[in-house]
Amino acid sequence: MTTAQITVLAGDYIGPEIMAAGLKVLAAVAENQNFDYDLHEMPFGGAGVDQEGDPLPAETLKSAQESDAVLLAAIGGPKWDGAPKTPEKGLLAIRKALNLFANIRPTYISPAMQQYSPIKNEKPVDFVIVRELTSGVYFGTPRETTADYALDTMRYTNEEIERITRVGFEMAMKRRKHVTLVDKANVLDTSKLWRKIVAQIATEYPEVTYDQSYVDAASMKIIADPGQFDVILTENLFGDILSDEAAQITGSLGTIPSMSRGTNGPSLYEPIHGSAPDIAGKGIADPLSMVKSVAMMLANSFDRQDLSDQIMASVNKTIEDQIVTPDLGGHANTAEVTAAIIKNIQESR
Ligand code: NAD
Ligand code: IPM
Ligand code: MN
Repeated sequence: MTTAQITVLAGDYIGPEIMAAGLKVLAAVAENQNFDYDLHEMPFGGAGVDQEGDPLPAETLKSAQESDAVLLAAIGGPKWDGAPKTPEKGLLAIRKALNLFANIRPTYISPAMQQYSPIKNEKPVDFVIVRELTSGVYFGTPRETTADYALDTMRYTNEEIERITRVGFEMAMKRRKHVTLVDKANVLDTSKLWRKIVAQIATEYPEVTYDQSYVDAASMKIIADPGQFDVILTENLFGDILSDEAAQITGSLGTIPSMSRGTNGPSLYEPIHGSAPDIAGKGIADPLSMVKSVAMMLANSFDRQDLSDQIMASVNKTIEDQIVTPDLGGHANTAEVTAAIIKNIQESR
């Protein structure tokens, strides 16, 4: 067994708090399980700006490229508002450099979580957002600001749409075989191109039912009838917005992990939320998003579904026992939730 190489990017504000929790759970679940790993903790985001003058220092990128997986907590915050190099630029740069074009953001309301959901769910809620991550308006050029106007460009090539569409349909084949393309094809040319290409690729997957929704209506359906979705396939900006909305119907943004992957090379695992400056330093950040990102990493980058399942079962038991942070209405702090998860892992052995 080779030793897994993991680059660790703790980032800013609550980033280091939840990363510490995630790494403690990793250590607990790996103990005596024939999973050896090395951690490479590197500056990134605001911490990269402060230490190296760059949100993605060259050494950090090199470490990520040479690793088997990257764990990221969260970056950004008011400290770097208006800075010439923002933490967010580092995040976009690492996604681009590692070619992480597919971002998988799950929305699953487990029986244990249902009590925290702000909506009444008649059908089970279990869908994934497959978000295109390295193109669209985040990266399109020209991009400029003058005295009179600012310009962003939403641009997609056929190839960029094709490859993310295949990720979405392959994922649907392993799930309930339903894909919903979310777009704004009643207005945007890029969305019209998505519809054309996705419809072509859909014919290669006759077992998968395929439909479309405009993004405004989709944002309503996520609240009104989230049980209808299996795979939501969408472009970069819509996926960003809809994934925070989808997170909240599970109870809290602070519980949702994600995976970002390319065709080869390391994948990156991170909570979908940001650095939560409003609660940083209070010790009350919800660690579940980070802990579940560790579980996603074990299953997807290291073929250790067994360890991933142990983490998820222990998380669920912790939720059932109502040991949760204030974002879920609880009174536990980050350390107490983390300790409960670790105790559940140990007791399950
Ligand atoms: P945010 O996601 O940081 O916070 C939104 C709200 O959710 C806040 O009230 C926060 O306290 C709460 N929240 C988020 N995560 C939580 C957790 N684990 N536990 C408990 N509560 C949690 O969004 P924001 O405030 O708009 O952005 C703050 C900074 O984070 C910005 O600089 C933004 O650019 C950055 N950001 C980074 C990432 C990333 O690193 N991937 C993602 C989103 C935003
Ligand atoms: C996310 C974040 C990032 C994004 C920001 C911080 C650049 O909101 O990962 O969801 O918009 O992709
Ligand atoms: Mn976001």
